Amino acid sequence: MKVLCIAQQKGGVCKTTTVLSLSASWALEGSRVLMIDVDPQANLTRNIVDYERLAVDMSSVYAAKASLKEAIAPTATPGLFIAPARTSLSRVENLERSLSTYTVLRREIAKLGDAFDRVVIDTPPSLGLFTVSAFLSASHVLVPVQPTFFCQEGLGDLNQTIVEAREDNAGLVSVRYFMTLFDKRTIISQEIAGLLRDKLGPSLFATTIRRNIAVEESQYAQKTIFDYAPRSTGAEDYRALAKEVAAWLESS
Ligand SMILES: Nc1ncnc2c1ncn2[C@@H]1O[C@H](COP(=O)(O)OP(=O)(O)OP(=O)(O)O)[C@@H](O)[C@H]1O
Ligand SMILES: [Mg+2]
Repeated sequence: MKVLCIAQQKGGVCKTTTVLSLSASWALEGSRVLMIDVDPQANLTRNIVDYERLAVDMSSVYAAKASLKEAIAPTATPGLFIAPARTSLSRVENLERSLSTYTVLRREIAKLGDAFDRVVIDTPPSLGLFTVSAFLSASHVLVPVQPTFFCQEGLGDLNQTIVEAREDNAGLVSVRYFMTLFDKRTIISQEIAGLLRDKLGPSLFATTIRRNIAVEESQYAQKTIFDYAPRSTGAEDYRALAKEVAAWLESS
């Protein structure tokens, strides 16, 4: 089972949107996909299920009061499941932590066996407990980069955190990047995109996600981009990225 973690400590760079869009795209093609929300903001959860009616969420899993299996709920998309988060997840970071708090996610994912083809983890904009526990569980890490002036700030810290996680997770085989929120009308976006291609080389996916208002609207409508606007550039870009990422997951 491939475990993909989408991470970047910068906020608002499309982590959550990407988790949902890639997962939905794969589920629509027949894969069984589990999304795990380990962000106390619970944006992914709110985008896709009725937040008020959640039974078990990831707070209970991190507190070792429930299994991951018990937290899994179906979504409106066949084959697509979610282990949701509540905002109370933020309190886990205040609890006394042991090594076990960092590794509980990995143990719980391992217990799922082959129930899912792919697991996709949404992380908060930080390199704290939740992101580190996701790195300790992941086989692959995907990093969204928005081509702005400061976009390379922090990529070194992110890499260092991944290098350290690898010492305890030999299964973490690969890290890749993709560009997002690209605005082709601005010269600065194009120039920075060129610089990123030079710097990241083949670890940068060919697909770039363009800025597209339908993506933002789909969130308010609580739908995936494929249900909300299947012919939008957002849906087109995410379909292309889903293909590239799937090939990467299956080849490494
Ligand atoms: N391709 C796009 N075009 C336009 N808006 C987008 C696109 N992708 C995402 N957005 C919007 O950008 C905002 C941030 O996206 P998202 O929540 O996915 O980022 P994030 O990295 O998960 O944020 P956080 O760090 O807070 O978790 C959202 O309002 C989303 O609707
Ligand atoms: Mg998010």
